[in-house]
Amino acid sequence: MKRDFLTICDFTTKEIDSLLIRAKELKSMQKNRIEHPALKGRTLGLLFEKQSTRTRISFEVAIIQSGGHSIYLSPNQIQMGRGEEIGDTAQVFSRYLDAIVIRTYSHHKIEEWAQYSNIPVINGLTDRHHPCQVVSDMLTIMEKKGRLRGIRIAYVGDGNNVAHSLIEGAAAMGMEIRLASPKGYEPDKAIADKGRRLAKETGAIVEILQEPHDAVRDADVVYTDVWTSMGQEGEEENRKGIFRGYQINRELMGRAKDDAIIMHCLPAHRGEEITEEMVESPQSVIFDQAENRLHMQKALLEMLLK
Ligand code: CP
Ligand code: NVA
Repeated sequence: MKRDFLTICDFTTKEIDSLLIRAKELKSMQKNRIEHPALKGRTLGLLFEKQSTRTRISFEVAIIQSGGHSIYLSPNQIQMGRGEEIGDTAQVFSRYLDAIVIRTYSHHKIEEWAQYSNIPVINGLTDRHHPCQVVSDMLTIMEKKGRLRGIRIAYVGDGNNVAHSLIEGAAAMGMEIRLASPKGYEPDKAIADKGRRLAKETGAIVEILQEPHDAVRDADVVYTDVWTSMGQEGEEENRKGIFRGYQINRELMGRAKDDAIIMHCLPAHRGEEITEEMVESPQSVIFDQAENRLHMQKALLEMLLK
């Protein structure tokens, strides 16, 4: 049976724990230049309908370093751009490729890909979820804080794809997550409810708030993302006004624990959701997060293609 990775909830807590252990091992192997060709003879497709720096490059490098091959595809280069259906394209891809990483708009589209593919489908970001980002962020938190269980995350900003995957990740790993978003920009209620249900089993806490100060109080991790995601460019000016009070800055960080870390999935808009000072602060682990995408991608591919 092929396995997909469309949302964090596709994996159990135990599986995420194994991924974290394996990513740490693979990271140390890479630092020691120990080769591990887990994807030898395998070819993966990367189909991206939106721009990407980290997701695309970390997957491509992970595949190369694991001894496999990747083919980067954009919809305009293939017949999909002329209207060939997802179902047909997915069945054809399944005859050539061993797995496919997809970055698209609607989450329903990636579910359709998964339905018609006989190969693992990996979500490289949709409008609702960004699971690859969040599993690798769990590795970063683990490295910096030594554990996940009981760690308090504050997420300040838009209740978007990254926020949704963080809710699911925190709930699965027994963490406390408090999200502060302006009214009307909260995370999706169905995802928050699912997170709360899972939290009951794992001892996690999921709270949806409005006031950034309330979310950040005594936090171990303070996380933010852009106010305007890809595909929402037309709302940018309006959002700048609505989100003005939702910035990670020195004053807000004063509410968190003294040793709190600052996280951002990148790309960042300095002066909007985070100040330049906070991106560059010694508390910032933002570039470690970007690096860990590579190590976690390797662990993920190894697990899905075993
Ligand atoms: N964080 C992240 O997914 O970055 P890219 O959009 O550059 O892939
Ligand atoms: N929320 C952002 C994340 C980018 C990695 C977006 O969807 O554009």
